[in-house]
Amino acid sequence: MNLPPFKLERYFAKHEFNTEFLLCSSDCEAMSIADLLAIEEGAAGKFGEVWLGYTESQGSPALRQEISKVYESIQPEEILVHTGAEEAIFLFMHAVLKENDHVIVHTPSYQSLSDVAKSIGSYISPWRAREENGWSLDLDELRHLMRSNTKAIVVNTPHNPTGYLMSRADFNELNRFAQEKGLLLFSDEVYRESEYDPATRLPAACDLGNHAVSLGVTSKTYGLAGLRIGWIATKNKKVYDSMAGLKDYTTICNCAPGEFLAEVAMRNREKLVERNLNIIKDNLTIIDDLFARYANLFSWVRPKAGSMGFPRLLKGNIEEFCDRLVKEAGVLLLPGSMYEDSRNHFRLGLGRKNLPQAVERLEEFLNKM
Ligand SMILES: Cc1ncc(COP(=O)(O)O)c(C=O)c1O
Repeated sequence: MNLPPFKLERYFAKHEFNTEFLLCSSDCEAMSIADLLAIEEGAAGKFGEVWLGYTESQGSPALRQEISKVYESIQPEEILVHTGAEEAIFLFMHAVLKENDHVIVHTPSYQSLSDVAKSIGSYISPWRAREENGWSLDLDELRHLMRSNTKAIVVNTPHNPTGYLMSRADFNELNRFAQEKGLLLFSDEVYRESEYDPATRLPAACDLGNHAVSLGVTSKTYGLAGLRIGWIATKNKKVYDSMAGLKDYTTICNCAPGEFLAEVAMRNREKLVERNLNIIKDNLTIIDDLFARYANLFSWVRPKAGSMGFPRLLKGNIEEFCDRLVKEAGVLLLPGSMYEDSRNHFRLGLGRKNLPQAVERLEEFLNKM
C-alpha cells in the first residue's frame, strides 16, 4: 500500500484552525453537544448514562435502526457503522479490490475515492464531469470506459466539489448498467438529503439492488462532523462481511458517546436538514449576487444540492489568488489543484453561518486587487 499525501486534508491542516473565515468547508454549520441534546426531550439525561465499554462492532442496534430509516428497504443488519465516511471508503476498497482490478471513478473526486484503490494496485479510469456540461456525467462515456477487468464504479452525487446532482433517469441507467455488467457500484451519498428541491432527491443506490453500496455520514448534510460517525448500507452480504472483517483491524467498534449522539441526530434529522438548508439557501442568494457583480472575474455553475460549488477564476492563477486571499484577508478558499483540476476552479463552501461576513472580506480584497 502506497498512499500519497491527501492534498485537501494537508491544506486544511495548514489553514483550518488559524484562519478567520473558512469559505470552502464542505460540511454544514456544526452545533454543540448541548444544542444537539436539546432537540430531544430526555436525551441529555440519557447521555450521562452512556456506558463507556466497547460497543457492538457493526454499530449499536439503536443507531442502525435510526440509520435504516434513511432508506426504503434496508434493514438495520444491512448497515455497518464506521468512524466517519473515510474509514468506510478505505475498508470498501480493501474489501473488494486487488492488484490489476479496474475501477471507474467520478472525477474530480474526493481524493480517497480514487487513491485508496490506486494504492492497492488497481487501475483507475476517471469518469469526468465537465463545467461546460453543467458538471454532468455522460453515460456513453461510462460505456466506453468499461474494460474486461472492471470491478467497480464509484460515484458521488450530490457531488463534492461541484454540487452536481444526477438526474433520476441517468441514475437509474447507471444502476442498470452496473447490474447488467456485474459491477459493484460504490455510491458516495454523504450529501444526500441536501437537495434544494426535495423532488430531485435520488433513490439511495443500496435500495436498487445488491450491486450497490451506499455511503452516508453525519458530517455533511446533518452538520455533525465531530461525531465521526459514518456508515455503509448494502444488501450485498459478501461486501458487508468483508468490510466488517477488516474493521477489526482498524477501529474494532465506534465511539460510544458518538453513537448515542448520532442516534439522537438521525432520529431528528429532518430538523437538522431544515436548519442547514436554510443556511445554505440564504448563503446562495449572497453568492449569486456576488458572482453577478463580478461576472468578469468568475464563472459559476449554480449547484443543485449540497454545501459547495466549484466556480472558476477567469483571470490570473487560482493558487496565487487563494494564497494572497488567506494571507491578506483571512479568508480560505480551496484551489482546484487539490482535486487535480488545472482549470482555475476553486471550491466554495455554502454551509457556514458566517458566509456573509466572509464574502464582505472577499469583496474588499477583490476591490483592492
Ligand atoms: C464526498 C465525500 N466523501 C467522504 C468524505 C469523508 O467524510 P468524513 O470526513 O466525515 O469521514 C467527504 C469529506 O469531505 C466527502 O466530501
